[in-house]
Amino acid sequence: MNRCLALLLALGATLTTGCCTHCCTKNGDKNMNIKQEPFGTTKNGKPATIYTLRNANGVEAKITNYGGIVVSLTVPDRDGNFADVVLGYNTLDGYIKKTPYFGALVGRYGNRIANAKFTLDGQVFNLATNNGPNALHGGIVGFDKVLWTARPLQTANGPSLELCYVSKDGEEGYPGTLTVKAVYTLTTDNGLRLDYTATTDKATVLNLTQHSYFNLAGQGNGDILNHEVVLNANAFTPVDGTLITTGEICPVKGTPFDFIKPHAIGERVNQQGDEQLKFGGGYDHNWVLNKGFEKQLSLAATVTEPKSGRVLEVWTTEPGLQFYCGNFLDGTITGKSGKVYKHRYGFCMEPQHYPDSPNKPLFPSVVLRPGDTYTHTMIYKFAVK
Ligand code: BGC
Repeated sequence: MNRCLALLLALGATLTTGCCTHCCTKNGDKNMNIKQEPFGTTKNGKPATIYTLRNANGVEAKITNYGGIVVSLTVPDRDGNFADVVLGYNTLDGYIKKTPYFGALVGRYGNRIANAKFTLDGQVFNLATNNGPNALHGGIVGFDKVLWTARPLQTANGPSLELCYVSKDGEEGYPGTLTVKAVYTLTTDNGLRLDYTATTDKATVLNLTQHSYFNLAGQGNGDILNHEVVLNANAFTPVDGTLITTGEICPVKGTPFDFIKPHAIGERVNQQGDEQLKFGGGYDHNWVLNKGFEKQLSLAATVTEPKSGRVLEVWTTEPGLQFYCGNFLDGTITGKSGKVYKHRYGFCMEPQHYPDSPNKPLFPSVVLRPGDTYTHTMIYKFAVK
């Protein structure tokens, strides 16, 4: 890594704006046109619901209040043929039994926290370990495995689903009672927009993201190696052999991590001799977005599937993006409609703060304090080429 620059970053990316009340009502607006159906029962015997949001263009998103999971997302190709472009299951049972976070709302902390521990204001917090010695995606029972209170809403932007969850002080080891709201909106211009807000009663760390596995040729229809990716990032955060960020920020120029111009995922993913690709088993890294630490919503990634012409744009207010190309998918999962998900049959684009930020003082801060409001907006926007 001697070609890397360990860049000194200005601390304190602003996570706090405005104010927001966090409340969830159980009953939504009865006049609205959002379908809701039972989606099985949780391990504790609680009923889950699946909500279908549909816009005037026929684009459809199915979301369950179990884990905030995006169960399906059906979008047109260049000839107007619709396909479901996210991996997952038809039933709740599938998600309960075995899932690599298909479609999930990830929290409290997206990606890994080294040795499942961090220090905040001089106090050490020990987290649940669920990835070797590390904490991954919020722990053993993260936000992807809890029932959220749901309220369907009709908004000017399109049909929405508001999900709320109150995470107890000490849940999975994290301090503070955290009140989280996630609003999913299927926009009139074919975007799935997510607006996350959260407040706490004690200082804590927070990094929420979304974990859909996309395949723009349609879920289960082969690997994603022909998808062409553009990432608006001149740098990335390298990892060690256990996938923990080293704390460095390295330029992508001259490496297989340079996606400033479009490259097919498969073009360099198996390039021999690249240590970072070896550690990740392919792409499984956080890119440092050129937008910097400002909270403005910016285009982070564009992915094109040449045969169908489907294009996915990823917009975010966050400073980083985890691009994971399904390296751990190995054909042991049979998903929707009996489709087997083999190696690299899906990719994730997870807008986020940098992995292991609580232990990396030079990375932008992920601390949320009482009185402040965490905000995070992301849009997965679909088009054709
Ligand atoms: C991580 C991978 C991990 C996967 C979980 C991704 O966000 O970057 O390392 O294996 O989630 O299924």
